[in-house]
Amino acid sequence: MAKGIQFDGRPVWAEISTSALKHNLRAIRRRVGRGRKILAIVKGNAYGHGAVEVSRVLERERVDLLGVTCTTEAIELRESGVRSPILLLSGTWQGEEPRVFRHKLTPAVTNVAQLRNLERAASRARLRRPLGFHLKVDTGMNRLGVMPEDIGKFLAALADCRRLKLEGTFTHFASSENFASGQTEEQERRFATVLERMRAAGCDPGMAHLANSAAIASRPSTWADMVRPGAILYGYHQNYDPPEKRLAAEQALPLRLVLSLRARILMIRDVKRGEGVGYNARFTAERDSRIAILAAGYADGLVRHRHPGGPDAVGRRCVLLHGQCAPVVGIVSMDLAAVDVTGIPAARVGDVVTIYGTDGKRSLPVSDAARQMGTVTSDLLTSIGARVRRICVR
Ligand SMILES: Cc1ncc(COP(=O)(O)O)c(C=O)c1O
Repeated sequence: MAKGIQFDGRPVWAEISTSALKHNLRAIRRRVGRGRKILAIVKGNAYGHGAVEVSRVLERERVDLLGVTCTTEAIELRESGVRSPILLLSGTWQGEEPRVFRHKLTPAVTNVAQLRNLERAASRARLRRPLGFHLKVDTGMNRLGVMPEDIGKFLAALADCRRLKLEGTFTHFASSENFASGQTEEQERRFATVLERMRAAGCDPGMAHLANSAAIASRPSTWADMVRPGAILYGYHQNYDPPEKRLAAEQALPLRLVLSLRARILMIRDVKRGEGVGYNARFTAERDSRIAILAAGYADGLVRHRHPGGPDAVGRRCVLLHGQCAPVVGIVSMDLAAVDVTGIPAARVGDVVTIYGTDGKRSLPVSDAARQMGTVTSDLLTSIGARVRRICVR
């Protein structure tokens, strides 16, 4: 923990370790080889880490592209001075093309109608140079993207687009962490067929890219020209099927946790046996207890009911305080949460607790909390509230 972080305002914050972020990026570079480009995924406020803070670090580390979902996310980066190429992974919404041109963004194109809209808008805007875009191919996710069987129609439409330039072709895996099904191999096959058809038709697909975190960690055949790390940039490996694959991924790609979510203790209460704490008295003290009230609630990213944090020895959720686990008790409210510090006599008002992340030698990875709650790491990370300050530390 960076000791003595002080700032004006409510004491809840997320520490972003720039050295951990750089470590993870460098590990990814080593893994895939320096010849491959890296598109760093910073959508969803960089998985809750703060898109501007993270993108500035990644830009200094010379990542090749940044990936966001929409123009709103991209423009926030541009207005903060980020100059790297930015790919709009989910494409564009009709009418927002001028924003794409003005901010020098690279859209993904996911269907023929979008391609034609872009061409018309580029013609109206009298762009001096063709607008670069990436084609998204749907190889099995069945969400966005041109289906392999429609690639001929897409190429015919592209032939009429003088103001657009195809710079990349990509697809997204549905389950690259799953080695029990053959879905990823099937997606790879379909993607390879699409690339062959494009080349056979005289169309250069540009940079080919498919690999997300699990594929980068564990499927070298998918690395192509560029890789798109999200979760692993922030220090999280996927849960693999079979689980032994995760160990292999951790060995191939050792990662460090980038984010630690912390808050200070606002108040410590002595609660008598039998008294309730918080809404609906969901927690009733079984003994005379010391209860610490934290400056963090569900609007800050703690999950209501199912308290965040990793398990302590008896399987309850907890936070770290003075290197020990303190169980979260009662219902987490919007702004506050209660933890039982009866077993930590040194606990004082103003002490820092770690909700997720590292504290000295101990850590509570968000991924453990997510597993306990039956969700994924990025679900918990992206729910860290906008009012939580992101503070870069070494
Ligand atoms: C198109 C695309 N590529 C890459 C990623 C990164 O995924 P991961 O966090 O598994 O690396 C995402 C995230 O959902 C994505 O949508």
